[in-house]
Amino acid sequence: MSHHQPAWFKSAVLYQIYPRSFYDSNNDGIGDLPGITQKLDYLAGKHDSLGVNAIWLSPFYPSPLADFGYDVSDHCAVDPMYGTLKDFKDLLKAAHEREIKVIVDFIPNHTSNQHAWFQESRSSKDNPKRNWYTWQDAKPDGSPPNNWLSNFGGSAWTLDKKTGQYYLHSFLPEQPDLNWDNPEVRAAMKDVLRFWLDLGVDGFRVDAVYWLSKDPELRKDPANLSTPEPNDIRPRYSKAGPHLYKYLQEIAGVLKAYPDRFMITEAYPEKWRNIVSYIKFYKNVAPSVSAPFNFEGIDLPWEAKAFQSFIDRFQAKLHTTYVPVYNLGNHDKPRLATRVGPVAARTAAMLLLTLPGMPIMYYGDEIGMTNALIMPSEVKDPAEKNQPGLGYGRDPERTPLQWDATAHAGFSKHKTWLPIPENYRYINIDSEATEPYSMLSLYKQLLSLRNGLATLKYGRYHPLMLHEDVLAYQRRHGKERLTVLLNFSDAPIALTSRSIRGKLLLSTHLDIAAGSPVVAELTLRPHEGVVIQNA
Ligand code: NOJ
Ligand code: CA
Repeated sequence: MSHHQPAWFKSAVLYQIYPRSFYDSNNDGIGDLPGITQKLDYLAGKHDSLGVNAIWLSPFYPSPLADFGYDVSDHCAVDPMYGTLKDFKDLLKAAHEREIKVIVDFIPNHTSNQHAWFQESRSSKDNPKRNWYTWQDAKPDGSPPNNWLSNFGGSAWTLDKKTGQYYLHSFLPEQPDLNWDNPEVRAAMKDVLRFWLDLGVDGFRVDAVYWLSKDPELRKDPANLSTPEPNDIRPRYSKAGPHLYKYLQEIAGVLKAYPDRFMITEAYPEKWRNIVSYIKFYKNVAPSVSAPFNFEGIDLPWEAKAFQSFIDRFQAKLHTTYVPVYNLGNHDKPRLATRVGPVAARTAAMLLLTLPGMPIMYYGDEIGMTNALIMPSEVKDPAEKNQPGLGYGRDPERTPLQWDATAHAGFSKHKTWLPIPENYRYINIDSEATEPYSMLSLYKQLLSLRNGLATLKYGRYHPLMLHEDVLAYQRRHGKERLTVLLNFSDAPIALTSRSIRGKLLLSTHLDIAAGSPVVAELTLRPHEGVVIQNA
């Protein structure tokens, strides 16, 4: 057995920060990079820190904010709203001093329409950057070149009057798709990666990768036969094209030239092919430096059976070198505590932090933040503006982190860019830090358990089958066995099994002393989760 310390990304707990909403250092109502630096002690390095091992920063690059930073107008700079490049370097240094790894968002598929590349590209048909984006003539009747749809509603094509051609945008018209089939584009985007790697970032979260490759013939998407909607089409040709993995390998190749770097690719699978889709990314990209997000924790119904079946099958397919990347929420999906409820959110916390690989926490979930109610006049997200009232809006899960019970939740002294839910008066870091049974206390104990136990970090996953409402598994490492039992129901459940004998290390209720003996019988209280160290 090797005595090398396994790479950080094999077990790190990654904490996602939405920079606009973490901490506002200059009181303009918007979170910023110096704000993150000031609050790093909350995350790690001090005895009462949360104890995460890495952070992922959502975009902080110059952007007209049509899609809140996912429309980048300069990939190698910091938007003045969030600070300066010097502020980023300071943040990186301060994080590394606390042994916090830092990964940043990389948005390869599109740029802002204000990006200098697009400005050049649209200026004339013979501009050298014309083919950096996808331009097509209209159909004879003037309509778009094909039926491809934008992820934010409507056609994926917009007519640009200047040259009379349509350009392709899989997201907003303000986010024209780069043409990855053009080697110059790939070279330029690889330079972007090197820019951040040279500064010392530890990796990337890679946005919307399915759209990097499309059908070279731009064939029309077929009707979706699995829905009754006549206008519903299946994105057969408009995404996941023939060169997808090749382009991702090229990205991975850049990371490989630097030690100890890692990237996580964002690709929501088609429902019925989820496991296959995930495994393809491991097999076809470069599992030593890359893994796909596993989004089932967000998409599955909150039922023990659904999770047990998925996780058991997924883990069984993972080669030992593959890093599973589980998460239960992000800036695009409703808050965990709102989806499953505040009590089950505790069970969910134990699930996330006892799974193998690199679990990802979404900022604010550690205190049980909920979706905010956003009035129509306060809407910021284009997903809601373009298709109001359908529940596509993502503002509710992007609100400022609730630091304390003072005005603006201690996030800022100024009116905040999104409203803060009234519950900040009791759902906040300051109050929860001193409440022994709070969500924050639970997260801290889970993280401290994980950070202290090689079995939780590196142990193999071994499924158990005890009760249909209890998600049960063991983590096994050397001679040690840890058993995790999670009651998904709101009724008590009595279990009898030899595999639960041992010492209780932690209950989500936080009211049982660590080390209490567990015999072969145990009654889990409603929604209770426990970690047992087997005898
Ligand atoms: C996924 C990002 O998470 C989301 O916020 C964004 O709108 C799209 N990709 C487009 O970049
Ligand atoms: Ca600010």
